[in-house]
Amino acid sequence: MLTVQQQINLAVEQLQNNEVVAMPTETVYGLAARIDSEVAIKKIFSIKQRPFFDPLIVHVSSVDQAKKCVTEWNELSDFLAKTFWPGPLTLVLPKSDLISDLITSGLPSVALRWPQHPIAQELINRVGVPLAAPSANKFGRTSPTKAQHVKEEFSDSVLVIEGDSSSVGIESTVLSVKKQNNIYELAILRKGSILKSQITEVLSRQSFKYQWQEVIDKIESPGHMKHHYMPSIPLVVCRDAKLKLSELSGLLNKKLNELPDEIEGVKIIKPKSDIKKIEFLKLSSDPTQAARELYSQLRAASLRSPDVLCFIQTSAHTGEMWESVFDRLYKAASLILD
Ligand code: TXA
Ligand code: MG
Repeated sequence: MLTVQQQINLAVEQLQNNEVVAMPTETVYGLAARIDSEVAIKKIFSIKQRPFFDPLIVHVSSVDQAKKCVTEWNELSDFLAKTFWPGPLTLVLPKSDLISDLITSGLPSVALRWPQHPIAQELINRVGVPLAAPSANKFGRTSPTKAQHVKEEFSDSVLVIEGDSSSVGIESTVLSVKKQNNIYELAILRKGSILKSQITEVLSRQSFKYQWQEVIDKIESPGHMKHHYMPSIPLVVCRDAKLKLSELSGLLNKKLNELPDEIEGVKIIKPKSDIKKIEFLKLSSDPTQAARELYSQLRAASLRSPDVLCFIQTSAHTGEMWESVFDRLYKAASLILD
């Protein structure tokens, strides 16, 4: 058994040798490769079975390193980076030549983040170049928040640095920052634990001219599938909290039967006969804690092989942080019942 420090040393060696390694970050575990190794970047896509149209996030360990990845490091980005980095905020900016088209799926922009996790920081520092790292799960599946999750996902084919459980639990907030005629245009491309209200709040004490843009188009935010993070057992989000258990079972029997065996390329294990075992997902009432528990609970519940997983959404689940949690829950769901 290697100590964590020995695992880090080995990971640095493997990254230098065009390999990929799994590293803990505060959001979720990532599958990392040097940005200047085309071989390793291609391995990320093949190991994850990820389509090339879904771009990767580049992880840096300083603002100076981030600046080298972009053609234009504007003042607002500098301010947000200094406010929220290291941490779970990803900034999308015009890419420099250091970033290949393979990483950005041909987009002219790059997504950049300085993670807070000390192991991720040590890796980037020691390798000396930024690391591209998507979440360390097969494409479309539930993201990993523990080293054990990554091991289950890829058996022994990838070195996994055994850090602690990810403290945030859901992926970073992705924010696009554009500057047009001295006005900044901001758009949240993926919700996370850094909330729009927090960004608005810190900006309110500054003199930047900016506006929020709500529209998310597919080209600007690729990889945004309707389905994602899916457990192999069908997950149902039930938005009618008044439904009786017998009514719910009846509805599920009918509706699950109508589902395809595969949703957006992800195979779903549908119940073969009438549903006997429904497992109810119980998340903490505090959304920050719920985010921390979500993926781990989805994975643990799937391993117990119920016929179906169910989450009951109630009026208590309101507020911005819950929206980030529900962004994941809805995408993970095979079915949403109103
Ligand atoms: O918290 C996180 O961000 C984690 C950890 C490992 O850092 N990483 C992560 O990566 O979630 P991934 O590959 O699972 O998600 C990357 C997403 C893409 O699907 C896309 O939506 C967005 O980030 N993205 C990446 N590059 C982009 C770009 N140039 N423009 C717009 N969106 C981009
Ligand atoms: Mg992912």
